[in-house]
Formats: sequence, structure tokens, C-alpha cells
Amino acid sequence: MNKKTFALLSVLVILSLALSACGAKKSDQVEVFSWWTGGGEAAGLEAMIKVFKAQNPGIEFVNAAVAGGAGTNARAVLATRLQAGDPPDSWQGHAGQELIGTYVAGKQIEPLNGLYDAEGWLSVMPKTLIPLISKDGNIYSVPVNIHRANVLWYNPKVLADNNVAVPTTMDEWFAAMETLKTAGVTPLALGEQWTKMHLLETVLLGTLGADKYNGLWDGSTDWGSAEVKTALDNYAKTLTYANSDSASLSWQDASQLVINGDAAFNVMGDWAEGYFRELGKAPKTDYGWAPTPGSVGVFQFLSDSFVLAVGAPHRDAANAWLKVAGSKAGQEAFNPVKGSICARTDCDKALFGEYLQSAMDDWASNTVVGSLTHGVVANDSWKSEIDTALGLFIQNGDVAAFQNALVAACKASGPCK
Ligand code: GAL
Repeated sequence: MNKKTFALLSVLVILSLALSACGAKKSDQVEVFSWWTGGGEAAGLEAMIKVFKAQNPGIEFVNAAVAGGAGTNARAVLATRLQAGDPPDSWQGHAGQELIGTYVAGKQIEPLNGLYDAEGWLSVMPKTLIPLISKDGNIYSVPVNIHRANVLWYNPKVLADNNVAVPTTMDEWFAAMETLKTAGVTPLALGEQWTKMHLLETVLLGTLGADKYNGLWDGSTDWGSAEVKTALDNYAKTLTYANSDSASLSWQDASQLVINGDAAFNVMGDWAEGYFRELGKAPKTDYGWAPTPGSVGVFQFLSDSFVLAVGAPHRDAANAWLKVAGSKAGQEAFNPVKGSICARTDCDKALFGEYLQSAMDDWASNTVVGSLTHGVVANDSWKSEIDTALGLFIQNGDVAAFQNALVAACKASGPCK
């Protein structure tokens, strides 16, 4: 062998070694995509990653979280990646229409029936949840939690100082906010646009009641009706009690106004509780909670779940991740920190704080309805039309035009004929 051939062969050997090392590394990692980057959310995810690492020491966890509450930014990044054929191995998707109408319809995720059988999940996941993650007999995701959307958070001291009782109806809430406003207190803390949609869905529920609220999503409640007009009037009135800089505040900023005593109320899902606990705040003393006005006895829910990408680059590692996400150990580590209750029905209640224990009781006993903002009741195109109409309404305050746009949205992308 001459010197030249030897040098060439050496280069080839080094190259092939490097390539196989790369290959080995690739199969030993899992990329998981979510929007849990801070404010109690990242801490919850970290707790579950810890369980994953303990059980899978050979697999590198690649946390591909993209910041932004409710996934407003993350979902856009995900859509671009999916379009480019570059999916993360697993991502966070809401049980319900978001999952079925987008990822299942787009053939972007794989059925997980085998995993459900192997792990015995059908006997520990709520029976009511399975249809929301299934299509044609196939189950498509692993729910990690149940969150409550219709929570009214309040500052107990601010209410007491102003002799305001916790409101249970819309009218009581308006009276309370009027008193606070007159006293120079900001009645309601509000954030960027998705938090306004979150507020809207709770006001629709609080004004219409559970049955008629459900009817909005199956076509049996007329979006053009007088009762929906009353709900939208209520919504318009609610907005008048909010801080004026809402557009520039994240959900954490808004809920912090309540904790700091700079505002009395905030309507937010119970991930806010994860944030309050991360800030070291104490339940009942620093923050109180109640169902949003008009929704006593109703649990407006959403569920975060994880999926397996079609063409996942690291399929086995992704399955290992999903196993942890669906496990008792994974859910017991994640949920008490995240501010949610387990999707599984067999978690140890004693691991959870006072608020979450009350949420468990309510989940078990209340009438359950689904969230709009967090993917349960409307598919993505309908939701985005509602969002566009809402954006215009926030600018022009025209209730009649808003209602017309909502009627049109249901005709275009919802069940209305
Ligand atoms: C929801 C998600 C929750 C929480 C919230 C705020 O869509 O389901 O887990 O992350 O957004 O970011």
C-alpha cells in the first residue's frame, strides 16, 4: 500500500467511525416539543424529565420547548416544522378537536393502541377522555393532565379591604368590580389576546350555562340568538374593568398583578396555581380561587397530551418518553408542580396541594365542558376565525359586528348550516 492509498483509507475509516458515532447518538435521544418554558410550567416538565432520565439513562432528552403561553408561538413553529417534514419525535397537543382536526386529519401522528394495551392505560385513563383522543378506533395521544380553565383567582386581602365578597354570578361580579373601580383598585387583570379568548369562553359559559355553552359547539345553540348577544354584552362589560396595558402582558404578568395586590381578579387556567407556588405564595392567604362567575358546579376542562410523530426520527426513544408521560410516576411528579391534576385516575391525592385537591373533587363531581382556547371544542380553523373576530372586536368594541362574525365563523368552519 503506498502512502497515498494509506492516507485515503485512513480518512475513510475515520469518516465511517464518525458517521456511526453520529448514528448511535441519534438513536439515543428524543426530541420533545412543548411551550412549557417558565412560570411553573417548565418546572413541571423538568420534574417529569427527571423521572424519564432515571428510567432511561442512555437516552438524551432534547427539550425543544418554544416560549409563549397557550402555545401561540410554539404551534406556529411546529406547523412549519411539520410542513418541512422535520417533526420533533413527540409534541404537546390538546385532547379534543385540536388533536383530531389537525394532527390526526393531517396524518401527522401515529395510533398508540399497542402502547395502551401494553401499559394497561385503558383501565386508568378517564373513559370520557378516550373519545377525545380517538378516531375510528385508534387512540392517538397520551394525556398527562387535566387542567381547569374556568377559575377566578383573587387577592383575598384586596377583596377584604374593600368589603367585597367572592362573586358567584355575573351580576355579583359586575357589582364587585364596580365597587373596586370606585375605590381606585384595578378590578380585573388581563393579558395578551389568547387570555382574552380564555376570558370570553368563561363569560360565554357563565352567561349561557353548561348546556347552551355545549350547544355552541355542536350547532344546537344559535350564535345569532339574543342569549349569545347577552353573553357578548357581558363580555364587553367585563373588559371595561381590565387594566389598559393588557396587550403587552403575558398570562404570568397578569396573574402577578393579583398576587402583588395591584388587581383584584384574574381569570386563568389552573397553571396559574403552579406559577403562584413557584413564587412561594400560600393558598388562601396570598391567593384565593372560585369557579368563574356563573359557572359554579361546572368544570371547563382541557388536557395536555403527547403524541408520536409519523416519521419520528427516534421512534423507540419517543415510545420510552410516552411510557413515562402516561405512567403513575411521571404524572405524580409532573402535575403537583404544573398546577394540574393527573389524567390517570390512580394518582395519590396526598401529593397535591389544597387547590388541586379541590380540583380533583370538582372534576369527579361537576358537569364537565370543554375549553375553546385550549383545543377541546373547536377545530383550529374555527378557532382561528373566532380569534380574528375577537381581535377586531377588541379594537372596535362593536358587539353586533362581533356577533355577526361569530355566526359566520360557525357557518364556515363549525357545525352551523
Ligand atoms: C395551555 C396548556 C397549559 C398551559 C397554558 C399556558 O394551552 O394546555 O398546559 O401551558 O396553555 O401556557
